Order: sequence, then C-alpha cells, then structure tokens
Amino acid sequence: MTDQITKDSAYNAVAPDDFGAMIEVDRYGQRSGAFNKIISATHDHFWDPLDKRYLDLSAPFDLKTQTILPQEMIMELQTPLADNWDAQTKIDLTNGIGHMFLSNILHGEQAALSLSASLVHILLDQGAAEYAANQAREEARHVTAFAMYIDSRWGKPAPCTPVLGNLLTEMVSSELVYKKIVGMQMLVEGLAMGAFATIYNHSNDPMLRQMTQLVMTDEAFHHKFGKIWADKTMPHLSDAEHNTVEDWAQQVFQTLLFNMFGPGEKAALYASLGIDVDEVKEALASAFTDDARRARMRSSTNIMRVLCKTLVKAGIITDRTKSFYATFVDMDELAAEGDEMVGDPIAEDGIRFLQMINGGEGRTPSSTLAAE
Ligand SMILES: [Fe+2]
Ligand SMILES: [Fe+2]
Repeated sequence: MTDQITKDSAYNAVAPDDFGAMIEVDRYGQRSGAFNKIISATHDHFWDPLDKRYLDLSAPFDLKTQTILPQEMIMELQTPLADNWDAQTKIDLTNGIGHMFLSNILHGEQAALSLSASLVHILLDQGAAEYAANQAREEARHVTAFAMYIDSRWGKPAPCTPVLGNLLTEMVSSELVYKKIVGMQMLVEGLAMGAFATIYNHSNDPMLRQMTQLVMTDEAFHHKFGKIWADKTMPHLSDAEHNTVEDWAQQVFQTLLFNMFGPGEKAALYASLGIDVDEVKEALASAFTDDARRARMRSSTNIMRVLCKTLVKAGIITDRTKSFYATFVDMDELAAEGDEMVGDPIAEDGIRFLQMINGGEGRTPSSTLAAE
C-alpha cells in the first residue's frame, strides 16, 4: 500500500483485506463533508429499470428492417467497400456492431459496479465510502438495465473485447486509489458520458434513448466524484507523483482510443456476413488517414475530445504529454472552454423527469451543484 498517492485525508485507504482497520474506534469519528451534496442528491435521480413509471423495456424493435445505431456512425459503411454490400448486409452489420458496442458498455457497467464496491473496502473515510456505496448501487441498476435491453434485442451479450477486458480488470483489481479514480471515474465514465450523449441524440430506438438518459442522470455524478478527487489532489502532487498520474491517464486514454474496437475485434461478425476482415482493414486504412481521423476528433462532441477536456480541466496534462494529445485536438481551445461536460444538459433534463416521479419537484437539478 506504499504506492498510494494521498493528498487529502478523504482518500485515506487501507489494504482490501484489512477489515481490522475499518473497526478501529478512532476511524468512525472522521467523515469528510466533500461528498455530502452528491450523496444527498441520490434520491432525486433514483430510478428502477423494472418499474414502468421510469422505463418500459417491453417495446419491440425489428432488427431485420431497422438499425439501432444510425448507419452513418458505422465506419465500414463510409468506405467504398460498402458499395458491394446489399441493404440487408448493411443493416445486419450495423446491428451486429451495435450489439458489440452495447455489450462492451454492459461490461464497463459491471466494472464500474465492482470497482466502486472495491472502493468501499479500502476507503477509510465514511463520507467517501458512503459515496462509493451509492455509486455501486447505481451501477448495479445500470447492469440490470443494459442486460435487460441486450436480452430484449439480441438475447445474449457479446463477450468483452480483450483489450477493454484487460484494462477493466487492471482497474478493478488495483489497490491504488488514483488508478481507480482516474481510470474509472474520470476516463471510462467520461467516455461513457460521451457515448451515451451520442446514443441519446442519434439512436433510432426510443427505448434505448430513454434508458440512456436515465443512466446519464447517475453517470454525471460519478464523473463529478472524479473531478472532486482531482481538485483535492492534483495541485498538491510532487513532480514524481504528477508524472505517475499523468502517465497512467495517458496509458488508459491510449488503450481506449486505439485498441478497443478495431476490425480485428469484429472479425467473427464480418465472417458471419461473408465479409473479409483484411479487405475491411485495408479499406478503413485508406479511407481514414491520420488527417481524416484528426478532423473527426476536432468536432466538439467527439468522445475522445471530451476525454482530453476532462484531463486538461483536471490539471493532469502537462507539457510532458501535451504533444501526444495535441495530435488529436486543439489543446488551447479546450483549455479556454467552460467546465460543462457533454451530456450534462441531457442528464439535467432526465433529473427533472425523475424528480416529478420521486417527489422532488421544484428543486434545482443538482448535478451542476454537486461539485461545488
Ligand atoms: Fe454506470
Ligand atoms: Fe458510473
């Protein structure tokens, strides 16, 4: 446990098997108030995937004639190779990729559940532990909701892609608080907020759009928890500690950016549709040159751009790694932008809807207040 980087006593941690430390009498007297607002807001955005007042998961969707994600989002369909495919193949490919994409999100939700539960075992501060327990409960309903959604559309989920599986495993099993919070609450949750905003704005399935908005009402708070950690930690790090955090963030970013969902991961899906994986690799490489990729990333809703912004605003990126990120986004433009995260307005609308059901009408949606 000597590798912990702790700058605020709210993040004091013990080994996962050191339950003795949890029942030390002096430990109970310490409770940080830093998380009180996020904890007390949990009732406002409560929802239950099994309760039709919040979400009706019984609406049908015909996967043979409609696509869950718009075909414009599918990179393969933006290459000349797609001219050889008939309309049914395009629909099947789009829905096959949607199945893999949403299954990876389900596995990410399970990782968030396991990770927040693991924080409960190591965080000594009662406020931090109470926050983490609430997050675990919220992630548990996300696992239920995505599992039910995938079951209603496809039956079984697709396996987790290996690179993502390894990354999630490393975060869940690590005993290091900074690795967990930077990896999960800042980067994976940031990626999720960006992905959910895209699904909410563009999916053709109203049931998925509704479910995604409800999930976002929770995720906005999880992302705020990461921001509170950064505010209390980053300014106080030694150079060596800052380098450690900065390198971990870059490693996670790089994995999420380059290695998660390439053509190799989709080989079995291509094969089931009679598509040659090597032809796809070639077509994608010539259609999406570095310049084309960069142009896509510069659009303000691009998910990776959202992640860069999270790291810039948290003060994690210094001149050591700035040039790595500057390959993809305009770093000065990002630094000048406000703090609002993509997806925050969607989450706030969702919270107003939930307050009507939960009896919290008239209160200001608290996602923007929670980190104050
Ligand atoms: Fe979640
Ligand atoms: Fe989350």
